[in-house]
Amino acid sequence: MIEHYPNGVAVSRKAIEVPDWIIEELLEMRQAAWDLHWNIDGDVATHVDSGDAYSLESQRKMPTIVHPHYPDPPQSIEFTEWWVAAEHAIYEVVLKYLERYPLLIHSLWWRDKGHALIYEPGAGLTLHQDNNVGYSWVNREQIVGRCELSTRNVLTTTLHVDDCEGGEMHFPYAGVTIPAERGDVLCFPANYLGAHEVTPVKEGSRRISYLGWFGQGSMEPMRSPKGEFGAELVEIQDPRLHPAANFHWQTTLDEDFVRSSGWTEDEMRREYPTFFDQRPALYWPKEDSSDDS
Ligand SMILES: [Fe+2]
Repeated sequence: MIEHYPNGVAVSRKAIEVPDWIIEELLEMRQAAWDLHWNIDGDVATHVDSGDAYSLESQRKMPTIVHPHYPDPPQSIEFTEWWVAAEHAIYEVVLKYLERYPLLIHSLWWRDKGHALIYEPGAGLTLHQDNNVGYSWVNREQIVGRCELSTRNVLTTTLHVDDCEGGEMHFPYAGVTIPAERGDVLCFPANYLGAHEVTPVKEGSRRISYLGWFGQGSMEPMRSPKGEFGAELVEIQDPRLHPAANFHWQTTLDEDFVRSSGWTEDEMRREYPTFFDQRPALYWPKEDSSDDS
């Protein structure tokens, strides 16, 4: 069951059972990320690559990114398998979400597996929307035609990996606040209607979320040479051929939706009149581009 709120915000409660050891392994990866990127000296945290120094306090108020699909240091095989299963469970939630918004089906071309964020007490996020590319803080040369990936985000998914005191998702335009409860999966628009903030985590607690996105657009113009400006956008892959890739074409979304919803052809036509006139997003290799005629 999905609870729907205004502006396309929705929650599926207890969609996934999260074992304790998943959290322990994420925390190990978080510590490794800290050790790799930061030199800590008293109250000062210096970034290893940039050399920029910050107060340790200010850095502790930022969530740390962890990539569970590329565990570093390597974690157990069960860890990787669990995250594959979690991805699948999130996908099933999205299929149910689409029963409320079936016209969204053909706007979900590909999926970005995303990443986990770990927040310590006092950490939160200010109000933002997930398809903002950040023109205000990075210059044009670093963005245009290169790092515009977030402009293609259509739908955000968030799995709450653990319970948290504070760390709520507040959606001011939708007028809803959702606490972080273990195993819940949220879906919401990546655009301004789903703008959100994360309230500060309370003392003695911790927040762990796993974020993913569904988007549209070929991303062709956004590729950047490896390492340039610190951005490397990988090609979107067919999940059947490259299951480990981070970006997957959603080639079976149509049929998966029909299976999940159980809608008849007549119901499908009523809810989405042009559904059968369209095709699911497919990867079309460059050499096939002349076949359009
Ligand atoms: Fe966000």
